[in-house]
Amino acid sequence: MTADRIVVVGAGVAGLATALRLAPLPVTLVTAAPLGEDTATAWAQGGIAAAIGADDAPALHAADTLAAGAGLSDAGIAGIVAGAGPGLVDWLVGLGLAFDRGPDGALALGLEAAHSRRRIVKAGGDATGAAVLRTLARAAAACPSITVTVGRATALAQDGEGRVTGLVLRTDRGALDLPARAVVLATGGLGGLYRATTNPAGAVGAGLALAARAGAVLRDVEFVQFHPTAIALRTDGPLPLATEALRGEGAILVDAAGGRVMAGIAGAELAPRDVVARAIARRTGRGEAVFLDARRIDVARRFPTVAALCRGAGLDPAVSPIPVRPAAHYHMGGIRVDGCGRSTLANLWACGEVAATGLHGANRLASNSLLEAMAFAVRIAADIRGMDAPAAGAGRGP
Ligand code: SIN
Repeated sequence: MTADRIVVVGAGVAGLATALRLAPLPVTLVTAAPLGEDTATAWAQGGIAAAIGADDAPALHAADTLAAGAGLSDAGIAGIVAGAGPGLVDWLVGLGLAFDRGPDGALALGLEAAHSRRRIVKAGGDATGAAVLRTLARAAAACPSITVTVGRATALAQDGEGRVTGLVLRTDRGALDLPARAVVLATGGLGGLYRATTNPAGAVGAGLALAARAGAVLRDVEFVQFHPTAIALRTDGPLPLATEALRGEGAILVDAAGGRVMAGIAGAELAPRDVVARAIARRTGRGEAVFLDARRIDVARRFPTVAALCRGAGLDPAVSPIPVRPAAHYHMGGIRVDGCGRSTLANLWACGEVAATGLHGANRLASNSLLEAMAFAVRIAADIRGMDAPAAGAGRGP
């Protein structure tokens, strides 16, 4: 009976969306912290990239994704994920998420680096991740088919042939075995391993290690993305972010003398993230300070999260440029999965940052991560359902 269980590990956007998409199939959602706490999703300032504008199309979004990925993205996956964007935004609206809108009531579309169109859907200016997390956590708490178990996954259980048969957990009450017919790892990334990081300290690749120990194939593990503009008001540990959307709205990168850091570099402040990060790192590596000058923007009104983070560190971004430095931000590599989120181990799927779908190539396009997690949640749920009813013919994707 319990071996019929589906276990989803992780309660950020990937885990919550997968559990919700599996409803009404019963899901045990395993989370190391209470729902809504200690997940990188809550820190995502950017937003959700979706080809919604009249001048946009999923094919343009996919093309930008491939260009940013430095030739190493999977074009089929980019097409699938970009195509899913508008529908996923509708899904969140249906769950009650109040996205930012213009005076005409239409969704406000922001611009971020390496996007050829305005296509970033946001909430609370720069608090999209927190809004997505709140919305999905509320929906999960109200969903009768989802049972939340607080504990730390310590191993995947396997049979003699290597098939995954469940999860072993450490809980307050001791070790717990959860036999399952399907396990979905949605445990996030590993940026917390770095000295300077935009990730929660708990993001140390625990899910990746579980999968590797069980023999799953990993992919592109060396591909770690550095965000160019972590706020450098501390020297290490989780550093607050100054969202890329600030540059999308006109903030510029300057040195201590006010000189433009991106002068003469193609794309300037809106070059792909790796290009901007390298330009800043060249300066900081020589001991120079680099600043994000956002004084021309109403940061307090349009980017309240950044304004609060700066004020908390004693800096007013309306008066002073913000000191910035690159910091580990996102792991493009991970557990190798196919177009349905299946790993190379039977009965094991992976979703979100812990997975490597091939979407991001060597450099993730801004605001494609919440999108990818939600797009794959749908595909993983369909695949697991397909195990129930093969005749229904849920597609396996590329
Ligand atoms: C940002 O707001 O700059 C981060 C967005 C992202 O990582 O996609």
